[in-house]
Amino acid sequence: MEKKLEKIVSLTKRRGFVFPGSEIYGGLSGFYDYGPLGAELKFNIKQEWWKEIVQNRDDVVGLSSAIIMNPKVWEASGHLGEGFADLLIECKKCHKRYKADEDEIKVCENCGSKEFTEPRRFNILFKTFIGPVEDSASTAYLRGETTPGIIVNFKNIIDSTGIKIPFGIAQVGKSFRNEINPKDFIFRTREFEQMELEYFVKPQDADKYFNEWVDLRMDWYKKLGLKNIRKREQSKEERAHYSNATADIEYEFPFGWKEIEGIANRGDFDLKNHSKYSGEDLSYTGESGEKFVPYIIEPSAGPERLMLAFLCEAYNEEKDRVVLKLNPKLAPVKVAVFPLLANKPELVKKAKETLNLLKRDSVIGTGAIIDLSIEEKLEAKNGFYNLTVSGVRGSIFSKVAWDDRGNIGKRYYSQDEIGTPWCVTIDYQTLEDNTVTIRDRDTTEQERIKVENLKNHFQEKLK
Ligand code: GAP
Repeated sequence: MEKKLEKIVSLTKRRGFVFPGSEIYGGLSGFYDYGPLGAELKFNIKQEWWKEIVQNRDDVVGLSSAIIMNPKVWEASGHLGEGFADLLIECKKCHKRYKADEDEIKVCENCGSKEFTEPRRFNILFKTFIGPVEDSASTAYLRGETTPGIIVNFKNIIDSTGIKIPFGIAQVGKSFRNEINPKDFIFRTREFEQMELEYFVKPQDADKYFNEWVDLRMDWYKKLGLKNIRKREQSKEERAHYSNATADIEYEFPFGWKEIEGIANRGDFDLKNHSKYSGEDLSYTGESGEKFVPYIIEPSAGPERLMLAFLCEAYNEEKDRVVLKLNPKLAPVKVAVFPLLANKPELVKKAKETLNLLKRDSVIGTGAIIDLSIEEKLEAKNGFYNLTVSGVRGSIFSKVAWDDRGNIGKRYYSQDEIGTPWCVTIDYQTLEDNTVTIRDRDTTEQERIKVENLKNHFQEKLK
C-alpha cells in the first residue's frame, strides 16, 4: 500500500501537481508548492466547499480575516498554553524528534535506538515579530487555525448583516503549525490551508446541529466520490481543549485510517473567553429578548489533506495506463482538445476553433469558466463582478487544454494520468459534417457529437 503513495508522490511531481518547497535549495521539511495542476485541483476543492457551505445556503456568510492577529487572541483561545502543545520525545542517539502523543514510538526509525528522552510539551504556534524590534512586546503569532479570526468578528458580522441564530461564518485560508514531525507527504505539513465553518446555535440545539453537520459533511465527501471514509467519535482524552464532542471523518490512506475533517461542538468556550479577555460582550440577544452565549458547531477540513485523499481514491492502474478517476468537478482539466494530426493545417485550424469555442467569453485560469454577457463583462472589468450574482450563466469548465504531441493514444494516456474526464478529437470527418469524437476517461468509449452541441453536452455532464 505504501508503494501506492510513492507512485502518487512521483506522479504529482512529474505532472506538476505538487513540488517539494524550496526544492533548488534542498527543500524545507513540511512545506510544499502546488504546481499548475495542483493549484487548479486545490482551487476546485475549495470552490466546491465554498459553494456548498456558503453560496448554496441562506444561513452562512463568508469571511477572510487576517493571519496575524493581536497576540491576546491566542491567550484567550488557549493556543499559548498546553492546549496547542504536542508531546515531544527525542531519540538519545541520533536526536530525531517524534510526536509522542500520536504514535507509540518504541524504536527510532532513523537509527534503531530504543532510548528516548522524557516527553516534554512543545507549543506549535509559529512566532514572529511586528516592527523593527524583536522583543516580547512585539511578539506575534501566525495563526494555528482560522477559527479565532471568525470568533473575533462575531459581533461585526451580526451588526453588519442582521443575521440571526442559527447561522454560520465560514472562511478558507492559511494556517501554520510548527509540527514536530511533518509526514506522509502533504497529509501533515507546517503550512496548509483550512476550510472552516463556525455555526452559532442556541446551547439546547447544539447536539442536534452537531449530528446534522456530521451527516452533511459525510454526504459531501460521498457526493464527490470519496468512498473509503468512516466517521469516528473522539474519546474525551483525544479531544482538543475547547471541545465538548468531536467526530472525525477519516479516510483510508495507504498509511492507514486518518482524519480528513473534524466536526467539533466547541460549546461556549470561544465566545466566553474572548468576551473575558477583550472586555467586549459577545452574548446574543434572542427574538424574545433572552440573552445567552451561543454554542459553536465547527466542521473543519484542510484542502491539501483532502487533495491527497481524492488523489489516493482516484489513482488507478489499468492494464497499460494510469488513470486518475477524479470527479469531473474536481479535475484540474475538464476537456482536452486535439487535432488528429498535428501537421495538417486544416485539422489544426478546426481544432483551434473548437478550443476557442469552449473557451470563448470565458474567465479561465483561476478556476471557473463562466459565460458572461457583454454587460456582465463590463461589470467585471469595473471590478464589480461577483461570482454569486444571478446574471452568471453557470460555471462550465475550469480549464480546457490543447495537446498535439505524439499520437492520439499517447495523448489520451497523458490526459488519463492527470484525470481529464473528456478528450475531443478533430479529424477529417469533422471537416465534412462538423462532428467531433469525445472520448470518456473512465470507460474509454467514444461518441460523435456536433461541435455546436459541445458546450451544452459538457455543461450537462458537469451538473
Ligand atoms: N479549528 C479546528 C481545527 O483546527 P484540527 O483537527 O486541528 O481542528 C482541522 O484541524 C483540519 O485541518 C484537519 O482535519 C486537517 O484536514 C487540517 N489540518 C490540520 N493540521 C494539518 C497539518 N499539519 N497539515 C495539513 N492539514 C492539517
